[in-house]
Amino acid sequence: MNFHVMTLFPEMIRSGMDTSIIGRAMASGILSLEAVNIRDYTLDKHKKVDDYPYGGGAGMLMQAQPVYDCYHAIVQRIAESGRKGQKARVIYVTPQGKTFQQQMAKEFAREEDLIFLCGHYEGIDERVLEQIVTDYVSIGDYVLTGGELPACIMTDAIVRLIPGAMNDESSALSDSFQDDLLAPPVYTRPAEFNGWRVPDILLSGNHAKIREWQEKVAYERTKTLRPDLLGEQGDF
Ligand code: ADE
Repeated sequence: MNFHVMTLFPEMIRSGMDTSIIGRAMASGILSLEAVNIRDYTLDKHKKVDDYPYGGGAGMLMQAQPVYDCYHAIVQRIAESGRKGQKARVIYVTPQGKTFQQQMAKEFAREEDLIFLCGHYEGIDERVLEQIVTDYVSIGDYVLTGGELPACIMTDAIVRLIPGAMNDESSALSDSFQDDLLAPPVYTRPAEFNGWRVPDILLSGNHAKIREWQEKVAYERTKTLRPDLLGEQGDF
């Protein structure tokens, strides 16, 4: 799978993604990630990428031209690699988008190429968004200074669903949210810590009973912590 991130701060993406599972997946060729600097595509001789909003208002906006040309350079590179660049989904990370969830991560993990667009300042000229963006996605109802951290978060959630990216494939299947339930609690050695014992059932060796216990506890935990996942009202 190939990720392409359009950003004014490529180092934020590279340093956020170069580690651990993602770094390994990149090294093994399962995954490629390019952070593309939008500023490299501005036609302005001072390398400017922002300007004042028409109609007034606070702050500056990212201009359409550098974003548009950056997008087309990526599409062209994808096409040169023999894939269908025009078909790649373009995800604009914005607090105005649909909230990112595990189901969305699963859907995106099926794509061959994904293009992220990270905004900065007070936003991006609407005309380029309407021309290139296919999905508007937020990571939650709060406002960050830019789209780079949300893009890293979404990439991380998607990458771990790509076959071969994780050491242990089954661990992605036992995640929270996989069956719309939170994951059950987990324990490792020693069997007793500060006088607290691991639940006896987990030491029993009876795998059917262990599975049954895990399902029951996962359900109870979901009911207490995230009743909304079960279609119930919470106390929020
Ligand atoms: N950019 C700024 N805040 C954001 C958020 N909550 N989600 C996605 N992109 C953002």
